[in-house]
Amino acid sequence: MKSYDAVVAGGGLIGASIALELASEGLRVAVFDVQEPGREASWASAGMISPAPENSAMASLLPISMASVRLYPAFIQRVEETSGKSVGYRKDGALDLLLDGTGQSEIDEILALHRGAGLRAEALSGPEARELEPALTAELRAAIHRPDEASLDNRLLTHATLEAARRKGVEIFPGNGAKALWAATGTCKGLHLQNSRVEAKWTVIAAGCFSARIEGVAGYAPVTPAKGQMMALRCEAVNLKKDLWSGHMYLVPRNDGRIIAGATVEYEGFDRNVTVAGMKKILTGAISLVPALESARIEETWAGLRPDSPDHLPILGPTNMEGLLIATGHFRSGILLTPVTARLVGEWITTQKVSEDWAPFSPMRFQTARHSRGA
Ligand code: GLY
Repeated sequence: MKSYDAVVAGGGLIGASIALELASEGLRVAVFDVQEPGREASWASAGMISPAPENSAMASLLPISMASVRLYPAFIQRVEETSGKSVGYRKDGALDLLLDGTGQSEIDEILALHRGAGLRAEALSGPEARELEPALTAELRAAIHRPDEASLDNRLLTHATLEAARRKGVEIFPGNGAKALWAATGTCKGLHLQNSRVEAKWTVIAAGCFSARIEGVAGYAPVTPAKGQMMALRCEAVNLKKDLWSGHMYLVPRNDGRIIAGATVEYEGFDRNVTVAGMKKILTGAISLVPALESARIEETWAGLRPDSPDHLPILGPTNMEGLLIATGHFRSGILLTPVTARLVGEWITTQKVSEDWAPFSPMRFQTARHSRGA
């Protein structure tokens, strides 16, 4: 039986970045994935590094979101240097487009929320926003400009992080996912795999929306899949610089000229079908923001499964089982929260202390809820 300092269930971006962090600290690490690693939510995402809260309910995420934004440049440098691969980072800012007659008091509230978190943000009129992005619709009345926001190519980043982890000595096992926790008297001794067991002092569950399928994990990580349909467009007539947001809809330009358009949020179990309704919604939204996209070519369509939690917040930290940590439930913020997740899990495993307060995201919050309901 193989034995490591740490084993990670799940080889997506979160699992790979945790493995890279731990291996960089000198730990012997292995990653187990049911399939080829990096083919789920990390592959399907749009790659935005956008800490701006979509609503005030998400404000509790801001401290770790901002910490992650601060960690991003060094994280990318480490990944690019170690892997020898570029991740398509762009820091051209974002525009939040207000098409629906948003009033001044609402704009002031959004600005106060952003600035209170230390995010640079300014209100623009429609014409001012069109000076920055001439392809925007003439219907636009107002926008919030967030000049510091960034994006990257999440597929390149995931691939490069896995490669960096390998080069740091992480052993990666595709097609050999975790079936169950290996638990004994309050301690997690490792993982039961498809046909064997693996032993470790530390076990990290980072299998996205599949985490709850690993026997023994659901009580800590009751995650469900939230399907997001997406598409990649190419249009010579449109040269976007900034990421564009409007409600849940977004357009994200890539360095290779594609524009990533998304996304739906659907609770359909583990279904990954791309539907006419989903594509219609995205295309209607995209054209309403940038009318010239009507002539765009559709290069690719896909759907991915975000790991959502009952309160839509991430599930991060140690559990009441010694040696077991959870890192999932990142919902719509997986790319954003990758560096801080890797850093905090790494800090906990190496020093049992963390540099950010992760108590609000504890996996134990669901155990408490179960017990108070009498479950
Ligand atoms: N991060 C954007 C989304 O989940 O659609």
